[in-house]
Amino acid sequence: MRTPLIAGNWKMNTTVDEALELVRAMKDELEKIAEVEKVVCPPFVSLAPVKELLSGSAIKLGAQNLFFAEKGAYTGEISPLMVADLCEYVIIGHSERRQYFHETGDVVNKKIVAALQADIIPIMCIGESLEENEREKTKSVVSEQVRAALAGVKSVSGLVIAYEPVWAIGTGKSATGEQAGETIAFIRHNIADLYGEGTAREMRILYGGSVSSANAAEFMQQPEIDGALVGGASLKAGEFINIVSQASAIKSRK
Ligand code: PGA
Repeated sequence: MRTPLIAGNWKMNTTVDEALELVRAMKDELEKIAEVEKVVCPPFVSLAPVKELLSGSAIKLGAQNLFFAEKGAYTGEISPLMVADLCEYVIIGHSERRQYFHETGDVVNKKIVAALQADIIPIMCIGESLEENEREKTKSVVSEQVRAALAGVKSVSGLVIAYEPVWAIGTGKSATGEQAGETIAFIRHNIADLYGEGTAREMRILYGGSVSSANAAEFMQQPEIDGALVGGASLKAGEFINIVSQASAIKSRK
């Protein structure tokens, strides 16, 4: 049914040389693992050289962000057309962008629309803060984020959602598989409400937040969880390979 997807979000790490070294260290092993889609998301400056290194490979490339305008006087920004030349995927609305760069639901929505228009698959990030979690607001927060991000979007075919509780990102404190599975099932219901059962059933929804080789199995065992968006652990070749191979073993058993 849904092909599992493991994406590595390298964030603001690796120079071009380091990025190439990291890809070289995992490429061959990743190629051997079947039935999982593998995506790496290095910083913008490494996209072109990494693409060259991955040519002919099944490993796909994602960007970590884009701006919504096609071109023009937006110093320092990268347009969907530029990303589309290099990448199949783009991470949009990551909580770090919402937090440090003040991306609102409206901005995230514009970026989603722009990515889809440019034929880039968005990995759309949503998730509640620690405070919202403690106040038991998780469901209303993710619902609202989904609605805001997808406002006016008619077709979400191919789009991927990453549920990343903010309190679990980079903290070493992950959600339990069960908690994440439950919230992801709820997100899928929201998609069903907006786009119908068929679309909801096909949509891949990932978990993200302190995923490592030590806890990957717990998430992959949840039928609602279709893979992971991995931060810190994606910077270590052995860790990333291990997570991808656990996803393949567990998901192909089902
Ligand atoms: P982490 O990051 O795995 O380092 O917690 C995940 C993410 O931010 O996508």
